[in-house]
Amino acid sequence: MTIIVTGGAGFIGSNFIYYMLDKHEDYRIICVDKLTYAGNLSTLERALNDERFRFVKADICDRTAVNKLFEEEKPDIVVNFAAESHVDRSIENPDIFLQTNIIGTAVLMDACRKYGIKRFHQVSTDEVYGDLPLDRPDLFFTEETPIHTSSPYSSSKASADLLVQAYNRTYGLPITISRCSNNYGPYHFPEKLIPLMIANALNDKPLPVYGKGENVRDWLYVEDHCKAIDLIIHNGKDGEVYNIGGHNEKTNIEIVKIICKELSKPESLITYVKDRAGHDLRYAIDPAKIHKELGWLPETKFEDGIKKTIKWYLENRSWWQEIISGEYQNYYEKMYGNR
Ligand code: NAD
Ligand code: DAU
Repeated sequence: MTIIVTGGAGFIGSNFIYYMLDKHEDYRIICVDKLTYAGNLSTLERALNDERFRFVKADICDRTAVNKLFEEEKPDIVVNFAAESHVDRSIENPDIFLQTNIIGTAVLMDACRKYGIKRFHQVSTDEVYGDLPLDRPDLFFTEETPIHTSSPYSSSKASADLLVQAYNRTYGLPITISRCSNNYGPYHFPEKLIPLMIANALNDKPLPVYGKGENVRDWLYVEDHCKAIDLIIHNGKDGEVYNIGGHNEKTNIEIVKIICKELSKPESLITYVKDRAGHDLRYAIDPAKIHKELGWLPETKFEDGIKKTIKWYLENRSWWQEIISGEYQNYYEKMYGNR
């Protein structure tokens, strides 16, 4: 089995590559990544020493490069993680989100049509469903919840989902889509809530909480997401959407306080800053379908997952310190300087 994993030098893609190499001894994995600011080759260090693994630096929007790779590798499955993934950046500059997240997905699917494929899997997000009110804890996103997006990021992901479904219906391309809630774990880029708060707390810097910190996210340990995708690409039904989430809702302020406690840092580091424009209030996934049809359940409890994650950031300081010492400094100043 040959699997092309796009965006594998990023957070979830790299965790997926390690999960698959460990689980399936006879699989060959080819990672295609443009190595944007969010992609890091050092993340794939262990994989690069594995003869079952190949890394190709390419942009998924580059049709010539994508076609050449498909011709060489004749993949059985493509799992598309490659994306611009940060909501705040999409508010600053939507254009690259439309390019990579929509056009890039179409280029990959065109190659799948041209060279043949057993399955194209699109890694989507719960953000395509918009948000839920804070005062209705009884409501959850199901696969039937209408698409209703808030940010340029979520709109670009929703557009890609619609294209993927159109390629399935019009051309018969075998596809699946997964829509997962917020992930956390190793190799999470420090612009996102959990790693940003860990890195800032360790550096005794202010912890910038947007608005009142009341927004709710449904956190899932990244390995549980990888397990779900592995199940879907092997056993999921052609044309289907699967929601992935672990009924683990927390407000942002709860998360930040847990991180302070785990690191023995004072809550006085918490600073309330200007809210995100169009900020989604609450995400909450109903994972009943993937549980019923594929037997998936999250295995890592948040209390354990957050401890493991913090331990990873403590033991891998050079990984994130290198990131935050470079171009990230300009990003941080731009986003948080006058907030
Ligand atoms: P990430 O930003 O950490 O990684 C994205 C990777 O894609 C990077 O390695 C980057 O270099 C690569 N990339 C970007 N543009 C590319 C292009 N044009 N061609 C090739 N490679 C390109 O993102 P992540 O958090 O790992 O998210 C991965 C996927 O999962 C995304 O599609 C995202 O929408 C989805 N998702 C993320 C979460 C989450 O909580 N992080 C939850 C649900 C779904
Ligand atoms: O739900 C899945 C989505 O989760 C993925 O599709 C996205 O790719 C991923 O980035 C994530 O989106 P969020 O916007 O939920 O994640 P983020 O880590 O940026 O923010 C989480 C919450 O924390 C959100 O309510 C905004 C808030 N926040 C974030 C940052 C970076 C802060 O309060 N302060 C911050 O500095």
